[in-house]
Amino acid sequence: QEKIAGEFLDKLVKWTKNIKISDPFEEGCRLGPVVSKGQYERVVKFVSNARKEGATVLCGGARPGHFKKGYFVEPAIISNVTTSMEIWRDEVFGPVLCVKTFSTEDEAIQLANDSQYGLAGAVLSNDLERCDRVSKV
Ligand SMILES: *[C@@H]1O[C@H](CO)[C@@H](O)[C@H](O)[C@H]1NC(C)=O
Ligand SMILES: *[C@@H]1O[C@H](CO)[C@@H](O)[C@H](O)[C@H]1NC(C)=O
Repeated sequence: QEKIAGEFLDKLVKWTKNIKISDPFEEGCRLGPVVSKGQYERVVKFVSNARKEGATVLCGGARPGHFKKGYFVEPAIISNVTTSMEIWRDEVFGPVLCVKTFSTEDEAIQLANDSQYGLAGAVLSNDLERCDRVSKV
């Protein structure tokens, strides 16, 4: 929600930068590589296209510096996204999160509904009635 977006994004980016990226067999791994070279290139291209289209890449979207090989992608948080951008419309299948702010509950519902995919959804709020109401729409 736009009133808390700045603070929320700061915390989200900090949290994301702490995600442990490693060999999946290593203790404490939270993020392994993507499945193939083709998918690695696809994910990196999604992020660079988003940047070209005017979105802001707040973190991630490239190979982490300490990896010389393997199709690892640092998790990306992307803001300043519009609903016409590829990064908003397409399914990335990689560690990429778009953040789109909204002002009203109705606006949030319209944004969530304007998708050809909808693989999963969640409503996060301190207001349980709101969670119940919105999740039923
Ligand atoms: C959105 O883009 C503007 C202009 O580049 C930038 O100043 C601002 O920090 C960005 N906002 C977010 C939330 O990324
Ligand atoms: C969601 O989108 C579909 C397809 O455009 C539409 O039929 C439906 O009424 C929309 N639902 C809401 C809650 O806006």
